[in-house]
Amino acid sequence: MDKIGIIGATGWLGRALALNLLDRGIVPANALVLLNRSGPSDLFAAHPAVTWAKDAASLCDQCGTLVLSVRPEDFPVAGFAPRDHLVLSFMAAWSMDDLAALAPAARIVRAMPNGGATTGQSYTPWLARPDLPPADAATVTRLLSAMGQSDRIGTEDQLHYLSALSGSGAAYPALLAKAMLDDAAARGLPPEIARRAVEAVVCGSAGLLAGKLDSLSGLLDAYMSYRGITAAGLSAAHAAGFEQSIHAALSAALEKARSMTPQ
Ligand SMILES: NC(=O)c1ccc[n+]([C@@H]2O[C@H](COP(=O)([O-])OP(=O)(O)OC[C@H]3O[C@@H](n4cnc5c(N)ncnc54)[C@H](OP(=O)(O)O)[C@@H]3O)[C@@H](O)[C@H]2O)c1
Repeated sequence: MDKIGIIGATGWLGRALALNLLDRGIVPANALVLLNRSGPSDLFAAHPAVTWAKDAASLCDQCGTLVLSVRPEDFPVAGFAPRDHLVLSFMAAWSMDDLAALAPAARIVRAMPNGGATTGQSYTPWLARPDLPPADAATVTRLLSAMGQSDRIGTEDQLHYLSALSGSGAAYPALLAKAMLDDAAARGLPPEIARRAVEAVVCGSAGLLAGKLDSLSGLLDAYMSYRGITAAGLSAAHAAGFEQSIHAALSAALEKARSMTPQ
C-alpha cells in the first residue's frame, strides 16, 4: 500500500484513525505520514517510526493516499495540492464538487465516521464517484475498518442524511437519558438511584436490540400485548408525538447538513 498521509492527525478523529490503524496492525508505522499545526505529539510515542511532515506539500509528495481530518473552516490547508492521489475527506461542508474543484486529478472520497471511532465502533458511510477504481475502494474500506464498520453509499444527499443520523453518535440517547433523569429528579428520586436506573435503560438495554432492528415492531407489539405499565407509557409517548419529534429532529439536522458550505 502507498504511504498514507493524515492532515489533522492529532485531532479527535485523525488520531482515532491513525492510532487504530497502528494499534490494529492495519498499516505499519513507517507507512504513515502525519501533519498537524502544533508539530510532533506524544500521542504517537509508542510508534516512533511514523513520519511527521513539515507541511502539506511535503505530505502530498510522500503519500499516495491523503486523509483530510481538519475542521471545514481550517481548509484548504496551505500547500495542499493533490495530483493523482486518493483523497479521503472526513470534512462536513466540503462537497464532492468543492473538493474536485481543488483537486481535479485526484480520486475523491467523502466519509462520515461517528462518535464510536476511537473505540473501533464507528459506523462510517462513504461516497465516491461511480468510476472509483476497485483498488481504491478496497483501500478506503481497509482504512475505515480501523474505526469500525463502513458502507459505500450512492449519493451525497444520503451522506447528508447519515451525517444527521449515525453522525449524531450518542446525542439522541443522551437526550433520552437527560429527559428520564429530569423526570426522575422532578419526582424526588435520589440522583444516584436515578442514574443507575436510567443507565440500565439507555446503556444496558441497548444491547438487547443489537442485530435485531429488523424485528422492532414485533418487540414493541410484545411490550404492548402485556397491556401493563410499559404499554401505558409507550401509548402516551406515541400520543404525545415521540415519533414526530424524532422526525423533526432528523429533518432539521438534514437541512443543516445540506445547507453547510465551506465558508
Ligand atoms: N469529531 C467527530 O465526531 C467527527 C465526525 C465526522 C467527521 N468529522 C470531521 O472531521 C474533521 C476533524 O474533526 P475533529 O473533531 O477531529 O477536529 P479537531 O479535534 O479540532 O482536530 C483538528 C485537527 O486539524 C489540525 N489542523 C488544523 N488546521 C491545520 C492546518 N492548517 N494544517 C495542519 N493541521 C491542521 C489540528 O492540529 P493541531 O492539533 O496541531 O491544532 C488537529 O490535529 C472535521 O472536518 C469534522 O467535520 C468529525
